[in-house]
Order: sequence, then structure tokens, then C-alpha cells
Amino acid sequence: MTKSIRAGLRGRDMLCLADFRPAEIMEMIVLAAGLKEGHPKVDSLLAGKTIGLVFHKASTRTRISFEVAMLQLGGHSLFMSGGETQLGRGESIADTGRVLSRYLDGIVVRTFAQADVEELARWADVPVINGLTDLTHPCQVLADLLTVYERKGRLAGLKLAYVGDGNNMAHSLLIGGAKVGMRVAVATPDAYRPDPAVVEKAFQAAREGGGAVEVLEDPAAAVRDADVVVTDVWASMGCEEEQDLRAGVFPPYQINRRLTAGARPDFLFLHCLPVHRGEEVTADIIDGPHSVVWDEAENRLHAQKALLALLLAGGEL
Ligand code: CP
Repeated sequence: MTKSIRAGLRGRDMLCLADFRPAEIMEMIVLAAGLKEGHPKVDSLLAGKTIGLVFHKASTRTRISFEVAMLQLGGHSLFMSGGETQLGRGESIADTGRVLSRYLDGIVVRTFAQADVEELARWADVPVINGLTDLTHPCQVLADLLTVYERKGRLAGLKLAYVGDGNNMAHSLLIGGAKVGMRVAVATPDAYRPDPAVVEKAFQAAREGGGAVEVLEDPAAAVRDADVVVTDVWASMGCEEEQDLRAGVFPPYQINRRLTAGARPDFLFLHCLPVHRGEEVTADIIDGPHSVVWDEAENRLHAQKALLALLLAGGEL
């Protein structure tokens, strides 16, 4: 079963977790957990292969963890700041995808519109991996699910509460969590709800994976009995000019000791980072005993090693 799932992932794109079956997502997570422990041996799995990283937005974790992942798999990576390629001077995404496919074995792209990543994937002959768009952040959520899996030993049946902006993290947690059988509760202010089309996909994911989805306004209701509590910045990249406006709306959604008193006593706290301590989360929570954010950041590396191994060499594992 594992062998055929791995073989079936070879050559695929990672644009959105909705595109994968629950068993395929679990395969990624279980392989990532194994790679973190040192098995199977993959240090020359991608020898001779090169991926390109085309980034139109800043990054610390995604860029560096993909570059190190390729090194640890025996391959190479090339970083291209989007503005410094001909894309920045108007060369089309279609032409760029066709050209890059003649040099590269995979492309990781971080950009604004989900449609642009989908357009690149349409024209590229090699796997395209979404390294964050305004709509979704699937690689981060693979790492988040790995972090919960290694701490709790399972995912199905756990309650995950996301509190804050209905952004790309909320979207990918809704879909990814529901696919692996979690009960995902998202609480946002009314004007910052998740995209209804994504919520519909999350309900579909819950039907596939045996999970459940709730979209709420009340943060206390979302966090009640949660095994995992997650938040993100109140103003994501591209929304910085709304910082002051949002600072007036989001304080009831801050993750702090009062709010997390309603979670399970052994709850985990996750944040994809970078964090604004004192805004979306208090320092005593992110730097306290429930926080697993440093493991979560490390797990970007292991999850993406598994993803690259499967998409670029699935059947060889
Ligand atoms: N969490 C995350 O994607 O981090 P970077 O923006 O640093 O890549």
C-alpha cells in the first residue's frame, strides 16, 4: 500500500492539500517522521537533481529549509528572487514554466495569487510546490501536522483550534486538518472570516478524512477542549498597511493564559512564525511549556524532505 501511494505521488504538484487523498497526506507525515529519525537513508536519493526557488516575498524558514532539504537529499537548489528574473519584467508565467522545466527537476514558488502557482504548474513539466500564497500555505501545515503527530502519536480525533485572521494558515489548517480526521475549529472576527470557497473544500475534506470543521466568531468556543491551539500574525505579508486597523479588531483573539484555560490541560501551542509577541500571542504562551514552535520550525525541514523525496522520486523510496 505504502509503495503504491509513494509511486503515485511521483511527478505531482503540491499546490493545495485539497488535491491529496487523506492516505497520501498521512504518507507524507509518516515518511517525514521516519526521515527525522534517520530512516530510510536518502542522502543520495536526489543526486544530480536541482530545484528552483522562485520567491516574490520574504522568507526565512521556507527558503532555508528547502535549500537544506535538497542538500540532505543529495541534490541542489537555486534561489531566484522573483523580481530579479524576467518575470519581474513581464515574461509570462507560462513561458517561465516551460523554460525552467528544461533546467530544473522541481520548482518551489512563493507568491501572491494562488492562480499564479496554478498557472505555473499548468505549464511546467516538473513538480511545482506552493511555498506560500495569499490563499494557502500547505508546506507549513505538513510541518504542523508532523509536529502534532510526533507529540500526540495520532491526528485523527484531535481538536485543533485556530484563532485569529482567516488567512492562508487558517485555510490550509482547515483543509489539511480535516483531511487527516481532526476536528478543526476556526474563530475569526466577522470581517476576517476564511474564504467561503476554502471552507467548502474543508467540509469536503472532512467528509473524505472523517474530520469535522467549525467556523466561529467566539474564540473561547473554538479553544474549548482543544488539543492544539494555533494562531498567526494579525496582518499577513501584503496586509501591512492594515496593521493599525487590525490592531483595533483582533485583541479578543489573542492567545493568552485566560483563553487557553479552556483548552485541554496538555494542549500544544503552534505558530508558523515570525511572531509578534504581545499581539496575537503573549510571551508566556509562546515561550511557555505548551509551545512547540521550535520543533514546528525544525519540522519544515523534515516535512519538505519527505515531500521532495515523494514528488521527485516517489517510487524509489
Ligand atoms: N512560516 C514561514 O513560512 O516562514 P517564512 O516566511 O520565514 O518562510
